[in-house]
Amino acid sequence: MATNRTFTMIKPDAVKAGNTGAILAKMNEGGFRIVAMKKTHLSPEKAGEFYAIHKERPFYGELVEFMSSGPIVAAILEKDNAVEDFRKLIGATNPADAAPGTIRALFAKSIGENAVHGADSDENANIEGNFHFAGTEMF
Ligand code: RTP
Ligand code: MG
Repeated sequence: MATNRTFTMIKPDAVKAGNTGAILAKMNEGGFRIVAMKKTHLSPEKAGEFYAIHKERPFYGELVEFMSSGPIVAAILEKDNAVEDFRKLIGATNPADAAPGTIRALFAKSIGENAVHGADSDENANIEGNFHFAGTEMF
């Protein structure tokens, strides 16, 4: 995957709340093009594998339980400076700290149930995109 791509998930809280369309609109308005997208439901095993980097953190169990609690929408997005610009568009992890107008300020409930995931580096965007999509599903 090229470095102008990032990886995102609309998390179970936001899908459950019916905010998928509004969040995708924000991504489009932010200048991101959809390269790949699917609705899926992660098993606890898959969610644990995806967030393995956080295995030692105190919130890991809660995070895995939450991320496997309902369907998500996974997507690869494209834009210049994608990773950094997307983190700006989604806002801080804790919605209480997220800048006004950001996706988390608008749609997140709490630091744990925070509506969206955004990859934090080009390397992780590539790993995470390949975790969810085959090369033949990227356009
Ligand atoms: P993400 O990976 O989902 O885009 O979120 P992030 O980079 O802003 O935050 P990160 O530190 O990577 O944490 C991953 C996800 O774990 C949950 N979390 N809960 N209860 C807590 O204190 C806590 N801290 C983090 C959130 O769902 C966070 O997005
Ligand atoms: Mg993160």
